[in-house]
Amino acid sequence: MPFRPHYTGLIENYRDRLPVSDDTKLISLGEGNTPLLRLNNIPAVLGKDVEIYIKYEGLNPTGSFKDRGMTMAVTKAVEEGSKAIICASTGNTSASAAAYAARAGIAAFVLIPEGKIALGKLAQGMMHGATVIQIKGNFDEGMQLVKDVAEHAPVTIVNSINPFRLQGQKTAAFEIVEELSRAPDFHCLPVGNAGNITAHWMGYSEYFDDGIIKARPKMVGYQADGSAPFMRGEMVDNPETVATAIRIGHPQSWDKAWKVKEESQGWFDECTDAQILAAQKLLAEHEGIFCEPASATSLAGAINDINSGKIPEGSMIVCTLTGHGLKDPDTAIKQSTSPMLTVDATLDAVRDAILNNMAD
Ligand code: F0G
Repeated sequence: MPFRPHYTGLIENYRDRLPVSDDTKLISLGEGNTPLLRLNNIPAVLGKDVEIYIKYEGLNPTGSFKDRGMTMAVTKAVEEGSKAIICASTGNTSASAAAYAARAGIAAFVLIPEGKIALGKLAQGMMHGATVIQIKGNFDEGMQLVKDVAEHAPVTIVNSINPFRLQGQKTAAFEIVEELSRAPDFHCLPVGNAGNITAHWMGYSEYFDDGIIKARPKMVGYQADGSAPFMRGEMVDNPETVATAIRIGHPQSWDKAWKVKEESQGWFDECTDAQILAAQKLLAEHEGIFCEPASATSLAGAINDINSGKIPEGSMIVCTLTGHGLKDPDTAIKQSTSPMLTVDATLDAVRDAILNNMAD
């Protein structure tokens, strides 16, 4: 049979598990259904007997996991008659909000920290026609402003404090379970506002409560060490990291995330920027998988915990890669050590370039 059903996005796919009715007009860009890739080469590089899967969320329509929540949030905003959405963002939420607003034919206002969002994300917000408001402050200040202004203007907040966002995002856990026929032993994620780790736990718990899985994973959240309020046990006022997507000191889902850690018997830990960039490079060079720096935090942290034995050999691990590498070309090019040659346009010059750079 050469035909298969037209995939129309995750709300349609999980209609009975999401807060929509038959009459709800769905705003979708075909999000979800992302690849779950087994790492073939990195376990050998580590010299460890572990089964690591990558949930490649950078392959969503706007290049990040945010689309899972945004399809729900914008669908519900439109259903409720909203004509404009607003968010604060380190870049990916704004790109996603802008795209789904365009799809819905409503307005988007996005607040971003000036100079601290990756180029690809800025391009997306601008191309999709959002009103981009750069603030001379960081994400946390932007988030507070969004909450304040929403009380004075007819706009729907689509940050992950919007409960429909987490509903959409929980579907990533469903997809993982369906492909593995079980839950992994450990699920590792980068943590910023901690919405995504919370949403995944909701998804696993829903399948657990319905008897679809017999056990849930330990949820492990990793932060960059310059931006690690969950490690400090308190809010951080001036977060800094190369992983700009998770440059967040005041996580919005603080209490929920601590609960996830307790219930799943998981933990939080931190990685240095150097470890994050090394993991990003490892994935790109050894597996052909390109993610943005923040995303690589999940693998960087997992590698630390595999090496220390906290994640034991024999484990099945899923690491979520939250955003695509093309989002942040500047950081990628800056740390790339691949040879970049400029030669004359002659056969001799090109042949020499090849022969001089062949591995022995
Ligand atoms: N990874 C990426 C690539 C992100 O963009 C974000 C969050 C996270 C991880 C963390 O997810 O906040 O649910 O813990 N980005 C938000 C944004 C803050 O504005 O795009 P979280």
